[in-house]
Amino acid sequence: MPESYELSRTSTSDVPLRPSLEAAYRTSTDSSSSSVADPDILKSRKQRYTDDASEPLTSVSHSEKARPLRRGWRRWFIPSRMCCFMVLLFTAAVALLLSAGGIWVYKEAVPEDGQSPPWYPTPRGGTLQKWSESYSKAADLVRQMSLVEKVNITTGTAWRMGMCVGNTGPVPRLGFPSLCLQDGPLGLRFVDNATAWPAGITVGATWNKELMYQRGKMQGQEARMKGVNVILGPSMGPLGRLPAGGRNWEGFGADPHLQGIAAAKTIQGIQDEGVMATAKHWVANEQEHFRQSWEWGTPNAISSNIDDRTLHEIYALPFAESVRAGVVSVMCSYNMVNNSYACGNSKLLNGVLKDELGFQGFVQSDWLAQRSGVASALAGLDMSMPGDGLRWEDGKSLWGGELTKAVLNSSLPVERINDMATRIVAAWYQTGQDDERKWPKEEDGGGPNFSSWTKEKVGLLRPGSDDKTTGVVNKFINAQGEGADSHGVLARKIAAEGIVLVKNEENILPLSRNGSKATRSERKMRLAIFGEDAYANPKGPNACPDRGCNKGTLAVGWGSGAVEFPYLITPAQALHEAFDDHTVEIADFNTNDPGLGKHPERAADQDLCMVFINADAGEGFIAADGIRGDRNDLYSQKGGDKLVQDVAANCGKVGGNGTAPTIVVLHAVGPVILERWIDYPGVKAVLLAHLPGEESGNALADVIFGDVNPSGRLPYTVAKREEDYGPDSKILYYPNGVVPQQNFTEGLYIDYRYFDKHDISPRYEFGYGLSYTSFKLSSMIVNSGFPSSRPELPAERPQGLEPPTFDVRVPDPKDSVWPAGFRRLKKYVYPYIDAASDIKTGKYPYPPGYSIQQPLSPAGGGEGGNPDLYSTVATVQASLTNLGTRDGSCVVQLYVSYPPNVTDSLGNAVDFPVRQLRAFGKYAVAAGADRQSNRRVKVSLELTRRDLSFWDVGRQNWVLPKGVFEVRLGFSSRDLPLLNTI
Ligand code: BGC
Repeated sequence: MPESYELSRTSTSDVPLRPSLEAAYRTSTDSSSSSVADPDILKSRKQRYTDDASEPLTSVSHSEKARPLRRGWRRWFIPSRMCCFMVLLFTAAVALLLSAGGIWVYKEAVPEDGQSPPWYPTPRGGTLQKWSESYSKAADLVRQMSLVEKVNITTGTAWRMGMCVGNTGPVPRLGFPSLCLQDGPLGLRFVDNATAWPAGITVGATWNKELMYQRGKMQGQEARMKGVNVILGPSMGPLGRLPAGGRNWEGFGADPHLQGIAAAKTIQGIQDEGVMATAKHWVANEQEHFRQSWEWGTPNAISSNIDDRTLHEIYALPFAESVRAGVVSVMCSYNMVNNSYACGNSKLLNGVLKDELGFQGFVQSDWLAQRSGVASALAGLDMSMPGDGLRWEDGKSLWGGELTKAVLNSSLPVERINDMATRIVAAWYQTGQDDERKWPKEEDGGGPNFSSWTKEKVGLLRPGSDDKTTGVVNKFINAQGEGADSHGVLARKIAAEGIVLVKNEENILPLSRNGSKATRSERKMRLAIFGEDAYANPKGPNACPDRGCNKGTLAVGWGSGAVEFPYLITPAQALHEAFDDHTVEIADFNTNDPGLGKHPERAADQDLCMVFINADAGEGFIAADGIRGDRNDLYSQKGGDKLVQDVAANCGKVGGNGTAPTIVVLHAVGPVILERWIDYPGVKAVLLAHLPGEESGNALADVIFGDVNPSGRLPYTVAKREEDYGPDSKILYYPNGVVPQQNFTEGLYIDYRYFDKHDISPRYEFGYGLSYTSFKLSSMIVNSGFPSSRPELPAERPQGLEPPTFDVRVPDPKDSVWPAGFRRLKKYVYPYIDAASDIKTGKYPYPPGYSIQQPLSPAGGGEGGNPDLYSTVATVQASLTNLGTRDGSCVVQLYVSYPPNVTDSLGNAVDFPVRQLRAFGKYAVAAGADRQSNRRVKVSLELTRRDLSFWDVGRQNWVLPKGVFEVRLGFSSRDLPLLNTI
């Protein structure tokens, strides 16, 4: 084995690589921006705009950079290029002028050191009992590691320097492997023979905790079979503050409780299979535009400016639930928060996440979200992903050898690198990945058995480098289960439960397979299916890289959260299979423009019309159909609204027999305004089928024919008008400064909280959804465990364990120098330094506040926060009866209204949302008058201390206010028939 591969992989033969489309995307979007990017500019901006004033650890010398530039300069003076040169010069001048304006705006708007308070030093991991065994094993291992070995596991080997989207360096000497990190929230990206699950938003719409868990578990199982150590999901940020946000669909809905429970269940499922889960993106990463430096032309990412209470009660809450569920990894986001990058924001990483929420695992950066070297390590970042520095694939890591230098020259305390490495190794033990029966070593066939970069069996091992070594990279292992155990069975169940039936006039649904319900005569029933969204993309479901186009039926959004479909059952296919062709005749119109103006008979001659429309979005590195990540509006796309209008106006008009029913199916990434046709008399039924994944058509058919009684509920509000979501609900499409600023001034009031506060009637409220049966709730009882003099604050923060101790002496630099004869691969990130003499100690410009030790938070002390926050303070019980003739499942939702006239410790009146979701349960209830005893089930939901508390900024703690709480139980945020008090 050549020496340079000691820290990487072995090789076999030489076979050309099929170019990776994804990589092409990455390169194209980034090369345009990198032509203007200058790390030095970033360096100085970084110092100005964050609380962490240190320099990125780039090792490029200025003379090195200047050489290629001079060569290029001469080329431009060839006369034929002169005119292009002038154009460029002009453009540059305009850009300069504009940015000067921007700097002016920026200077006016943003204080020098950002607005996020400092929080140092990073709390060391290993303070909680649940992790103590893992920490003691991890400490034993890390104590044996040299500095370069510690650094190697904290830094990715760079983009496309391994089989996965993220690959860490291993420590072969001690049997610690390279970790494979792979997207993502709905399944395994770039992977063959794995399930294309329903997306997060669909899972949120099921409101079914068991399905959330099962999906996570199967995702974990698939990951293990493919050799993935860390799944880059679930996603719980964006939360859905902006209904048009491009990546909302990766998460579970616009309410922190629903989002938190779904995330926690997913994490438990994934980690019960021994795979590490990642809670992402921490935090306030609510839109795609300007999410990242340079990707959108601005030198810095957007700053989400958010107040402390809103952070705690809305955006951090799902992460708290995830930490409580034991998540071992958290991904910090691209954006800034209060003008400090999320991956270098000491308050958020050290303070909120590691101290207050008691997070014991490791923080990894989103891909290139790390914008500084020492500063981010000091602020609490533990792993740099994918290891590249400020730009894709430039080989200039901010860590790697630069981190080694930082420790050796004493800029970064040895204690910190020890903690970083120990957190990663402890997470590995915590999920049982040291068990070689489940995780065989690479030499025994372990490690990733797929390649993110080629579909061929044999391919390059490090396609991002100049290394031409190839090997078997794809083993095509089937991870989807087979026969009755096929994961498609579960995917179908989830997709069916994720369908929300919002309109069903005259009980038009369910349909009968022989069409009897809609038939007007003895002839066959005539059904027409309209819309591209019912049919397959003729080029196949994976035609566009990362699903970055809207062609054919929409079953997933686009970006890193998308996967390769192993297959995709379209609605048309499932309907053709389901309808009895002896009695039903189907006409197919695989277009959004069926020409009904000239040919109204195409709809008029039908007994039933089904229209399929959609709305797509995704991650901002892809632009499709004029949508760059975030949606441009909240309407259906590709002429969907007009299609519904035309079909509904014409369906069944022939012979003057009146209008035949139209059923609308919408596949969408989030809320869509339906007002352009929802009240059309012909539109009898509407199904919001979200993003159903590979089993799309089958799941839809299950609901349409009544094999599954719909039980999905909206995980967001469907408004009548875009403005109804409020003035702060809009994407910032144009930069308002060099650092685009987005103020979360609406505070807690997003989605239904906003509608309720301003008494706006939505079209369909949060939590809404119909069933083919009906339910009644009765006999509500609240058992409160509260003593009458209940304490406002949770119990004292429990004393934590002592974290493991290590030798904190700075090692001899000689031991970190490149080994003799080491063959370095181009752009591959290594932990070594060039020479011991390079290590010069000096005064490091530590960020303001670095030397002030912060007090521990009284809200901390356990995973997810102070354990007392999670003590049950009330149990709410009721009876749920199925009043209809069909079995069905009902989501019972519990909303809490806080007492009036509450003041906080600073004497300010505390405003509360009208009501907030604090618990829910999904109950299956059998029907039938002859089965009286089965028609009723007992509902039992619990409320914790935190559920009834608010974040008191003055006390920096959760406070349970005095006074009477109203507890409402019901079927949606606006249909709450039962009321009680605590
Ligand atoms: C996304 C992450 C993803 C990562 C790796 C980033 O662009 O924001 O969610 O995990 O890429 O693919």
